[in-house]
Amino acid sequence: MVGAAILRQLMAQGVPEEDIVTRTHAELDLTNQAAVRAFFAEAEIDEIYLAAAKVGGIHANNTQPAKFIYENLMIEANIIDAAFRSGVKKLLFLGSSCIYPRLAPQPMREDALLTGPLEPTNEPYAIAKIAGIKLCESYNRQYGSSHGIDYRSVMPTNLYGPGDNYDLENSHVIPALIRKFHEAKVNAASEVVVWGTGAPRREFLYVDDMASACVHVMQLPPSDYEKHTEPMLSHINVGFGEDISISDLAQLVAGVVGFDGDIVFDTDRPDGAPQKLLDSTRLNSLGWRPQVGLEEGLKLAYTEFQAFEGK
Ligand SMILES: NC(=O)c1ccc[n+]([C@@H]2O[C@H](COP(=O)([O-])OP(=O)(O)OC[C@H]3O[C@@H](n4cnc5c(N)ncnc54)[C@H](OP(=O)(O)O)[C@@H]3O)[C@@H](O)[C@H]2O)c1
Repeated sequence: MVGAAILRQLMAQGVPEEDIVTRTHAELDLTNQAAVRAFFAEAEIDEIYLAAAKVGGIHANNTQPAKFIYENLMIEANIIDAAFRSGVKKLLFLGSSCIYPRLAPQPMREDALLTGPLEPTNEPYAIAKIAGIKLCESYNRQYGSSHGIDYRSVMPTNLYGPGDNYDLENSHVIPALIRKFHEAKVNAASEVVVWGTGAPRREFLYVDDMASACVHVMQLPPSDYEKHTEPMLSHINVGFGEDISISDLAQLVAGVVGFDGDIVFDTDRPDGAPQKLLDSTRLNSLGWRPQVGLEEGLKLAYTEFQAFEGK
């Protein structure tokens, strides 16, 4: 989802398509160190957007903890080290707001990192994402001056939009709700069951806004990036700036999809952290703001879902 949006953003800026190198999972398994090194030895890469990861919602994280920690650690370590070895000077690592402690003060600032226990349902994924930040920082600290490398990190909030995963068991909340409400509407069902109590509050960012933030951060002059970060606290939050309860989100999605039956909450399903809202002051003061509001973004996402998934 995000990789494709970054491509759209770069091409909209005029970067020629032939200058952008991509690999699908089937073409290059990033957990395979030898394959990743061989790729970088051949390809002449100037800068990397590291959007690949083992990604999933609360159920996938809860049931596949080994895959979430192992694959994400391997992807990051292989790419960052192979990039360094082959002389890549600029890299942007995509983490996640899951890196912050479960009970971090809201909204969560970058300096909340490593100040308390993580949310258990996605701790393995979060630990891998924290390792990604620390890989970037450690390579910068050891080789930044001697080799001129500049590896940066951004931590997005929950994302949604074109290219999302609409699988009911393994998806995030917005694509799951879009599919559920759409299917209920098509089947004239009287109710839709939503996981959890509906009380948790979450923040959502449209994926093209995330892509514009990635390109913005990648293109910042080093002096600007350094002014707003520290060598061992270098990541930048990417948020929308407002959160919403899951029950209000469900109402909003039902409205966009056109489902007018009942919404029932399955309280046997886990809620996850009570609230997750990022403090994006760092990025805002670096000149970036989101463009797409939640209702507008949901309409765009539903249009795409209908075109590709909802037939
Ligand atoms: N979506 C969100 O709400 C969200 C929120 C916060 C952070 N993020 C972060 O944003 C980044 C992009 O996420 P996304 O939502 O765009 O996820 P996505 O749509 O699942 O994209 C991830 C891509 O990585 C590929 N990939 C996974 N394992 C790989 C491997 N071993 N080798 C090569 N490719 C591999 C996947 O291919 P296959 O699908 O074929 O496996 C997929 O194309 C990730 O770092 C994620 O952690 C996402």
